[in-house]
Amino acid sequence: MADQAFVTLATTDSYARGAMVLGKSLRNNDTSKKMVVLIGPNVSEPCQSALRRIYDDVMVVNVLDSGDTAHLALLQRPELGVTLTKLHCWTLTQFSKCVFMDADTLVLSNIDELFDREELSAAPDPGWPDCFNSGVFVFRPSVDTYDKLLQYCTEKGSFDGGDQGVLNGFFSNWATADISKHLPFIYNLSSIAIYTYLPAFKQFGSGAKVVHFLGQTKPWSYTFDPHTKQISGGVQDAPTHPAFLLDWWTLYASTVVPVLQEQYGDEPFVSGCLESQESDPTVTTETVQEESSTSHASVEPEMSSEQRKEQWEQGQADYMGMDSFDNIKRKLDTFLK
Ligand code: UDP
Ligand code: GLC
Ligand code: MN
Repeated sequence: MADQAFVTLATTDSYARGAMVLGKSLRNNDTSKKMVVLIGPNVSEPCQSALRRIYDDVMVVNVLDSGDTAHLALLQRPELGVTLTKLHCWTLTQFSKCVFMDADTLVLSNIDELFDREELSAAPDPGWPDCFNSGVFVFRPSVDTYDKLLQYCTEKGSFDGGDQGVLNGFFSNWATADISKHLPFIYNLSSIAIYTYLPAFKQFGSGAKVVHFLGQTKPWSYTFDPHTKQISGGVQDAPTHPAFLLDWWTLYASTVVPVLQEQYGDEPFVSGCLESQESDPTVTTETVQEESSTSHASVEPEMSSEQRKEQWEQGQADYMGMDSFDNIKRKLDTFLK
């Protein structure tokens, strides 16, 4: 249906990469819906182009400006800024119904049936199940609702400092009013829940349709070696299920990297997507490692980019030669200077 869409948000290049993987996972599972990504103005041009290749619509939104009612609320709580940008999704009135998904979610099977649900449908938050988690929710775009949400922000703020606090405050009868608005947990299976209730995961986990890499450590915080399929790095003891993490990385390596590669041509295409160019607190050296170990950015003159792409897709990277870590690091360093 042309007037229904999946919507996500990315204000930085690393969340943009998350959005690319999410978009690919939706497409691979044959969604019949439109796909829209809202981006902040700081997302780099190559990442924007890559998103355009995957999404039907890439829309630049202001993170917030001084003319915005929500900005007044932000003066008191500046940390609200980024995730409150999510509220812009209510302005997408060209669509009658949408499903918002965080950029750190991954779709495992077709979930178009979510559009049978009404606003505001969402799954319980694993930390406080009387609240819904705002990583996946069904909503109806409406300028009226948008205005009311901004007004709510200004007057009441957010109890958790982000959109989830605002949305739970605004749609405050979610917990008790209508059970059909409680999405089954398999539509927003957070990696945290796997570890806090392992028996339930063993019983029901195989039915998971959406995995949510909730928490500070994201898939892109790790290092991935596409040759050995080994994942390493990240924060120790980060509660992310290795199988889902591998799913994310496999999709990133096989379908997103080639798209990024096209955007950069013969240039090292990772350069515009380096987290270290952004003021993101989750920046780690692993991010640089992960980019270099997956993207094979160095250029060997006698090989065309098409050949390099083919080799890369077959997992035949020249780890000791042109794709060696030192080689790539040297290249990256020139961009970071
Ligand atoms: N987000 C973003 N830029 C940021 C932080 C968050 O675009 O710097 C968006 C992105 O879509 C992300 C969502 O807001 O998935 C919610 O943030 P996050 O997933 O990090 O929160 P968590 O689910 O871990 O609580
Ligand atoms: C959460 C949600 C996320 C939201 C954040 C801030 O944990 O997973 O989607 O943006 O809280 O409220
Ligand atoms: Mn999230």
